[in-house]
Amino acid sequence: MSTNGASNGNGHGNGHGNGHGNGNGHGSDKIVAITGGSGFIGSHVIDALCLAGWGVRVLDPVAPHRSDVDWRPIDILDTEALVGELVGTTAVFHLAASADVNVIHGDPRRAVELNVLGTTSVLDAARRADAGRVVLASTVWVYAATEGDIVDESTPFSPDTNRHLYVTTKVASEMLCRDYLTLYQRPYTVLRYGIPYGPRMRDSVVAAAFFRRAMRGEPLTIDGDGSQERFFVYVEDLARAHVLALAPVAENRTYNLDGDQPVSIRMMAETVRELVGDVTVTYGPSRPGDLRARVVRTDRARDELGWVPQIPFEEGMRRTYEWYLERDVRTAAVLPVRDRA
Ligand SMILES: NC(=O)c1ccc[n+]([C@@H]2O[C@H](COP(=O)([O-])OP(=O)(O)OC[C@H]3O[C@@H](n4cnc5c(N)ncnc54)[C@H](O)[C@@H]3O)[C@@H](O)[C@H]2O)c1
Repeated sequence: MSTNGASNGNGHGNGHGNGHGNGNGHGSDKIVAITGGSGFIGSHVIDALCLAGWGVRVLDPVAPHRSDVDWRPIDILDTEALVGELVGTTAVFHLAASADVNVIHGDPRRAVELNVLGTTSVLDAARRADAGRVVLASTVWVYAATEGDIVDESTPFSPDTNRHLYVTTKVASEMLCRDYLTLYQRPYTVLRYGIPYGPRMRDSVVAAAFFRRAMRGEPLTIDGDGSQERFFVYVEDLARAHVLALAPVAENRTYNLDGDQPVSIRMMAETVRELVGDVTVTYGPSRPGDLRARVVRTDRARDELGWVPQIPFEEGMRRTYEWYLERDVRTAAVLPVRDRA
């Protein structure tokens, strides 16, 4: 067992849903590493960790969004380099992965390399560095590998399911975490994220596409009547859970982190229209659904971590719109005047 892990009952991260982590002033001598910290979710995890007083080391070839964190531009497949960066860290949040299903579809070999071998590289580097707990970014999409309609963290995986290769890489990553516990007594936590939205999200996700089209004055097109519902989780809510997951109770546990408010695509489009104004919403022919509707229980995260989503959908969308407006202002400021139109 690691001697300096987040698991040693040292009192870190025991806040209960107050939105500020434990905020107990432990200094930058307590370092957590984060792979993929320069991506959409990772950037918010960094903000939440900094707010809670943790020192943060970002392991990502791309520079992070803020300069007051320690950035090491390394590839997670470079295990030797990782070992050096993980020595003395209390935990490593492992977010670096290929997460775009279309990119994965186009290059499945690369996706398996980055997601499965990459996770092994992080687990093994943490083992060799005798670092703290590995906290894996997984997804509620792993329930595509289960049979149930109402699912929770104890629902077993089944091999006989139709699923995306992305799901398989995440199931494999979760199992590797478990294997490192069994074989090497290495502690882990798995966080299964719902569908996140918010500032800095990828342009290809539906909420981003709606904002971008609406802000260009283009109509929002919905397949079918838009009544199909999804749960979305505001990314800052998701990020806050990472601080709570450093608590000893989360050692060797898996948590679903999903939104609690069903949102239809129609409701999302209407919310964008209310914020941006003067936008037409059109409805086209329906397409077959990609996801089987499931109810994902989040009771465990509530009961053990004290985590419940705090930002209602309308408020999360308002904050996201504000970010788009600021980003447009920043972009306009660096463009020559003739290109601003
Ligand atoms: N965005 C979602 O909808 C969603 C939902 C559920 C789970 N997840 C999971 O959350 C994690 C983060 O997702 P995201 O949306 O922030 O992704 P993202 O694509 O925005 O960020 C990924 C980051 O990983 C970095 N990276 C890529 N290859 C790397 C490598 N070889 N070494 C080090 N860093 C590397 C990239 O530079 C990028 O900064 C992923 O593991 C993803 O599978 C995402």
